[in-house]
Amino acid sequence: MYRYVYWFKMLNPPRGYLPVVLITGCASGIGLAIARLFYRNPRFRVCITARVHHVEQLRRVFPENERFIVLPMDVTNDLDRKNVIDTLKEKWNKVDILVNNAGISYRSVVEHMTAQDEELQMATNYFGPMELIRLVLPMMREVGRGKIINISSVSGMLAMPTMASYSASKYALEGASEALWYELRPFGIDVSMIQPGFINSNSFKKVRYTEAARASEAGQEVYSQYYQSMGPFVARLMDFSWTTPSKIADLVMDVVRTQKPPLWIPATFDAELFYYLRRFVPRRLLHPFLYACLPNVKEWGKNYSRRRPDPPRWKYWLLKLIRAFPFDGR
Ligand SMILES: NC(=O)c1ccc[n+]([C@@H]2O[C@H](COP(=O)([O-])OP(=O)(O)OC[C@H]3O[C@@H](n4cnc5c(N)ncnc54)[C@H](OP(=O)(O)O)[C@@H]3O)[C@@H](O)[C@H]2O)c1
Repeated sequence: MYRYVYWFKMLNPPRGYLPVVLITGCASGIGLAIARLFYRNPRFRVCITARVHHVEQLRRVFPENERFIVLPMDVTNDLDRKNVIDTLKEKWNKVDILVNNAGISYRSVVEHMTAQDEELQMATNYFGPMELIRLVLPMMREVGRGKIINISSVSGMLAMPTMASYSASKYALEGASEALWYELRPFGIDVSMIQPGFINSNSFKKVRYTEAARASEAGQEVYSQYYQSMGPFVARLMDFSWTTPSKIADLVMDVVRTQKPPLWIPATFDAELFYYLRRFVPRRLLHPFLYACLPNVKEWGKNYSRRRPDPPRWKYWLLKLIRAFPFDGR
């Protein structure tokens, strides 16, 4: 939908001006697809980054030239971030467009996360991108334009069981991006969040498990059913999705070439659906509905729960009715 609504806003950059684009997490998936697209496009100067162990391989796939370079960067590492920005300042004296794509996701219920796991999740998906934004902003303000494109997720608008920390990291990114949109408008800098839902890619194979989550998935304990149901469910949805990483890359290119792109950009069918559900369906209806849609949910924690049975619904409604008409005896 985004593409059709905003096509007329596409900008042709002035001749001879090649904006500088910095992209994180380009070793695989969406980042690799974005790198491919920009490698073919002579209208940009591009720096793709990945963790150091991928750099040689990426340089073989994308031989460097005067407008395309590959640099090592772990987004959680202060020194790496600073080195990349210093190199770009020295080489091209600016960064016009930052694409925060690198990300990881844990599959683990809240009880199975450790403080270190939480830190790594947040450092990769939230603290790292925010630090990078802080580093590029002075350069963007200096030239009076710029774009920050954060790859968020449908998990940044609706949370899913076993993905609490991932959701928290994307909610944090979304909240900060929304505030940034207001803060940067006076300087001519655009902020957009691309929100993919399920994508037909191998990235679900890279989902991380904590030690406790891994043991629980393999065994029979309180949360085993959660993992045994959610893992294959998500894998199936990704297999069925017709959105590929290259479609998301096309969308990134559209945002780059659009004047005043929107802040929120749902990028898959399910993301668009959840976007409207979230807006128009009251949460007290939406959450029970989504709960009922979870795979095998009646079995979750069944033999381990001490939950008391819910009172009959008619008692609940009767009580509500009585409270709505308080009879005070007069
Ligand atoms: N695939 C989906 O269905 C989906 C849905 C919604 C949102 N997203 C978001 O889209 C973005 C890209 O995901 P993807 O699907 O392309 O997953 P992916 O194939 O796992 O790619 C993530 C990339 O980020 C890199 N990365 C991870 N930690 C890093 C770090 N500390 N420093 C630098 N790079 C790091 C990974 O490199 P290594 O190989 O070195 O780990 C990998 O190249 C993520 O932000 C993700 O949250 C994906």
